[in-house]
Amino acid sequence: MRIRSFEEYQAAYQKSVEDPEAFWAEVAQHFQWRKPWTKTLQWNFEEPSIKWFVGGKLNITENCLDRHLAERGDQPAIIWEPNDPNEAGTTLTYRMLHDQVCRFANVLKRNGVVKGDRVCIYMPMVPELAIAVLACARIGAVHSVVFGGFSAQSIADRINDAQCKVVVTADGSYRGNKEVPLKNTVDDALIACPSVKRVIVMTRTRTPVSMIKGRDVWWEQELKQVTADCPAEEMDAEDMLFILYTSGSTGKPKGVVHTCGGYMVYAAYTFQNVFQYENNQVHFCTADIGWITGHSYIVYGPLACGATSLIFEGVPTYPDAGRFWDITDKHNVNILYTAPTAIRSLMGFGTDVVAKHDLSSLQVLGSVGEPINAEAWHWYDDNIGKNRCPIVDTWWQTETGGILISPLAGITKTKPTFATLPLPGVQPILVDENGKEIEGNGVSGNLCMKFPWPGILRTTYGDHERCRQTYFATYPGLYFTGDGCLRDEDGYYRITGRVDDVLNVSGHRIGTAEVENAINMHTGVVESAVVGYPHDIKGQGIYAYVITEHELDDKDADLTKRDINATVSRVIGPIAKPDKIQFVSGLPKTRSGKIMRRILRKIAEGDTSNLGDTTTLLDPAVVEDIKAGAL
Ligand code: PRX
Repeated sequence: MRIRSFEEYQAAYQKSVEDPEAFWAEVAQHFQWRKPWTKTLQWNFEEPSIKWFVGGKLNITENCLDRHLAERGDQPAIIWEPNDPNEAGTTLTYRMLHDQVCRFANVLKRNGVVKGDRVCIYMPMVPELAIAVLACARIGAVHSVVFGGFSAQSIADRINDAQCKVVVTADGSYRGNKEVPLKNTVDDALIACPSVKRVIVMTRTRTPVSMIKGRDVWWEQELKQVTADCPAEEMDAEDMLFILYTSGSTGKPKGVVHTCGGYMVYAAYTFQNVFQYENNQVHFCTADIGWITGHSYIVYGPLACGATSLIFEGVPTYPDAGRFWDITDKHNVNILYTAPTAIRSLMGFGTDVVAKHDLSSLQVLGSVGEPINAEAWHWYDDNIGKNRCPIVDTWWQTETGGILISPLAGITKTKPTFATLPLPGVQPILVDENGKEIEGNGVSGNLCMKFPWPGILRTTYGDHERCRQTYFATYPGLYFTGDGCLRDEDGYYRITGRVDDVLNVSGHRIGTAEVENAINMHTGVVESAVVGYPHDIKGQGIYAYVITEHELDDKDADLTKRDINATVSRVIGPIAKPDKIQFVSGLPKTRSGKIMRRILRKIAEGDTSNLGDTTTLLDPAVVEDIKAGAL
């Protein structure tokens, strides 16, 4: 399973393309299966229908926990670093984690959860979050983790879409010097969620919460009622493992579905090879488990490989901007995996903060979630890696389950801002607007994949047609990523950003339509259009053009902006608040009523010199007005 040189990478890549089934069958043998598969792959991208390891039976938690007990039962599986550096953290060995997962799995069973049920998890970054995730997997329940920053409305939408039976949450969470009332938010959500029969509440902040009789139970009380004996449920390779909601260019977020066998193989294979993980290394992925990065590279990938995974509850700037480096030294972190946004924000605090730390334990640095600009890449390389740690710029998506394009640490020659080369099993193709392949090097196009890999999404929950439409219909026969991409003279790939109406704000994926819908819910708003613009720290900022019923004077405009932000926070969550709101009298629309976002994007970028052809606009004069009022 392990690639150790560039020659081995090339050989593995070639084999994976010539005989993908044989390639992945060999990789999958490194896992524990209850029953072997009968066919490695069955697929077509038309329906789409993708099945890996057909007929194989397994439980992912046996692979992440049980099978490690004999050899590394006493090795740390999870190191937990709390928000407050003065609070004692915890270390859970594989044996302890196994014990706790089995116990909580029994709690779920006691509360009526059976195989196939959906469980919503809305929790702080504490070990219990990973325990809840694994406990679901243990008994074959499907977890749907919702990031702790989402609003009650967003939780309700996700719960209702998946018809979750149980919610696992905590009283509150600590984020820097803030306390976030998670249970209250869940209570607000549940007003509109009839499918939920039970809420299990873990104690973290001891903030007062309402506990509804017959519905809400305490995590700690429940644990007293169960034993640690919980045999793993036998799952089919293609049984659902989890749903994770993500934003697209239209409508509400969709529930990306991953299944047990292929996801496990892919998350573990990529973890091992991209980070060149060695036994006993400590891996610190700074993402939240509420995102795919946390699913694959805090929980499943590292644990399937028997690694030690660090979970950090807090934020990079609390109590000061040296927190990541404190943690690195305190726990001798060997692999650090973070987002360009975090790097850019920490750059702003200068190198003195970093210089106070040793950082000699670091061996590999990773970047994920958005394009990393050259300045941030070099700062990371010089100041954190001290020019001795390879940087892996890993490109992938919620839908891909694991990393698709990335250097292998220390093996692939890196180049700043380039995700470099596809991993074995990954067959990228660049196409033009009409879906025609763009061959050769030194070219740009829309990034697609022409062959499935084990971690590819199988469907979008409850709406397979939406999955087909979104990913497989734009260019028939191909999986369309939604990203634009450059392939340079060396055949290296650089992802240039989304080509659809999806924004990437601080590495968070947000649909412009979602933000517009939220803004439009605000009283007095007639219409809005949202675009992204380059932002020094966030990568992209959110720029909203808003038409109101009545013209606003300066004071009212200020207040209304604040109200609109409050509305967006309430509807989606604070991460979707616009950075800039410009009130306009009209939007540039074509005669067929389509908003010309290209123009709005240019104005938001501050580049009004060449707005292109505006003659097809219904009313070209609005463009002048918008330009004049640009922020
Ligand atoms: O635009 C790409 C960007 O993030 C999108 C996927 O977002 P999400 O599903 O939330 O998953 C993020 C974590 C895997 C992609 O379509 N993206 C992700 N990684 C990179 C990136 N853009 C450039 N370089 C990357 N390394």
